[in-house]
Amino acid sequence: MISNPVKTIAFNLNGQHVQEDVQSRLNLADFLRQQCHLTGTHVGCEHGVCGACTVLVEGRAVRACLMLAVQVDQKTVTTVEGITPERGLSVLQESFWSEHGLQCGFCTPGVLISLTQLLKDHASPSPEQIRDVLSGHLCRCTGYQNMVKACMVAAKRMRDELASAQAPVLHEVKDGH
Ligand code: FES
Ligand code: FES
Repeated sequence: MISNPVKTIAFNLNGQHVQEDVQSRLNLADFLRQQCHLTGTHVGCEHGVCGACTVLVEGRAVRACLMLAVQVDQKTVTTVEGITPERGLSVLQESFWSEHGLQCGFCTPGVLISLTQLLKDHASPSPEQIRDVLSGHLCRCTGYQNMVKACMVAAKRMRDELASAQAPVLHEVKDGH
């Protein structure tokens, strides 16, 4: 019989400290869904191909079906629930809505997670950079083109919001205040 000992892990999940007893052979995607009840992380292929299970670990996008839950001990994990504001939607989520970047939505949480990382790394991503990220995600029903459009729209809105938030500060510096 294969042994599956239980280990206690402590980690940061969407900004909250979490401590859980976990079977050492349980993968991170099943752990998040079944034990943490965060069902926004989807499971498609279960072998690292479709990207539906993508979450951020230490700020980087990973396939949760290819990681064991015990591997996130003492780390930071962000799921699609964690990138969603308490009220309403994030800029990226709103852009997916306005630009029709989804249909059934099965692939969407993983796509949003990967693009969130891209937008953190690149304020003005090129369509090629966005396509490169999307190449790690399988979508069975919508066109990828609208996802590219949605990400471009979100990036512009985020740049504009940042510029207007910084404008008063720049004026003060210029005026010598
Ligand atoms: S379920 Fe993890 S990549 Fe498909
Ligand atoms: S929107 Fe249906 S799988 Fe992508």
